Amino acid sequence: MTPDSARLLLSDLGRAAVERASRLDLSPAARLQAAEAVRPLGASLGPLALEQALLRQRAGTKHPRGGELWWTGPALEQASSYDVATWRARRFAGPVLDLCCSVGGDLLALPAGSTGVDLDEARLLLAQANAQVLGVPVSLVRADVTALPLPASADVFVDPARRAGGRRVFDPRAYAPPLPLVLSWRERVRALAVKVAPGVDHEALPPDVEVELVSLRGEVKEAVLWSGALRSGARRTATLLPGRDVLHDDPVPPPAVRPPGDWLLEPDGAVVRAHLVAQVAARVDGWLLDETIAYVGGAAPVPTPFGRWYEVLEVLPFGLKALRERLRAHDAGPLVVKKRGTAVEPEVLRRQLRLTGRREVTVVLTRAAGRQIAMVVRPA
Ligand SMILES: C[S@@+](CC[C@H](N)C(=O)[O-])C[C@H]1O[C@@H](n2cnc3c(N)ncnc32)[C@H](O)[C@@H]1O
Repeated sequence: MTPDSARLLLSDLGRAAVERASRLDLSPAARLQAAEAVRPLGASLGPLALEQALLRQRAGTKHPRGGELWWTGPALEQASSYDVATWRARRFAGPVLDLCCSVGGDLLALPAGSTGVDLDEARLLLAQANAQVLGVPVSLVRADVTALPLPASADVFVDPARRAGGRRVFDPRAYAPPLPLVLSWRERVRALAVKVAPGVDHEALPPDVEVELVSLRGEVKEAVLWSGALRSGARRTATLLPGRDVLHDDPVPPPAVRPPGDWLLEPDGAVVRAHLVAQVAARVDGWLLDETIAYVGGAAPVPTPFGRWYEVLEVLPFGLKALRERLRAHDAGPLVVKKRGTAVEPEVLRRQLRLTGRREVTVVLTRAAGRQIAMVVRPA
């Protein structure tokens, strides 16, 4: 979006146009009629208003007041979820310098008086309007953060762009700004927090940085790198939202490796990515089925927020014929496939099994003591 488009959208005329577009039937089937209905608003404002109405409709999944806020398509994609942003903001005691603020997904959850910096003028205009909607006092600055003097007393948050030309970039050196540069700022400020992709390579990170993996309703959302005064003291942390359950890398003895028991725990993805499976196993008196695989066996389903228990109904060496026979005995039709440490493709397996039964059955494909196994399980 250009700054002029943002200004047009935020004008009285633009706001009225968005209101009008939001009242239309925006379902995919009625999209042509909606485009027709906004045509009298003009060749610029009509499509802008319709796009904004559509973005607001989607934005409810990111922010409880997403339907009132101002977005661009890419800014909505990149915005932190409200639950995650508010959780992260709790560690900051006072105003923060948000060095890649976009339309404010994080900035507006940070303590009052925080400052947002971004290069993109249109996003800053929308961020200002969003601050007004939410009644949050913030300052906004247009600048290139790679050339910004940083006050030594500052608490800094950075969410670098992980997309270039509409595509996701995986190499942290290709983030904008690049991760190595952002991490170097930790030597210049009081505290630094950086949002990165959950697949971040722990080994490549400096040892004075805490990595917090965050999942929301079981989906891993991000890793946050905390340094300086913002560190909790742990090196690795897994946080499960919205329950706010937190697990640290407290020392535990290495878990035993044993064959499957009556119960199987599938740890939350944040636990797995934070390399904290041993800590969960210790809490539930569990063991690993294979020392390289993140499934935990148990004799009983000890309650834990950090994973999901399954009752183990059968364990078989992996083989198509035997699996088909046992699944037919369970009257299996729709098959839920969970897998770790196997190259089997669930879709291919479903086709090969040709199950026609009436019950939805869950099967876990993994390794135990280095050998491929299949387990028929039932979610607890
Ligand atoms: C991933 S988005 C931030 C999203 C934001 N945290 C949110 O939740 O809404 C990254 C932002 O970094 C900005 N950016 C990238 N490089 C920059 C630079 N060198 N200086 C200032 N801003 C930059 C982009 O314009 C973009 O708005």
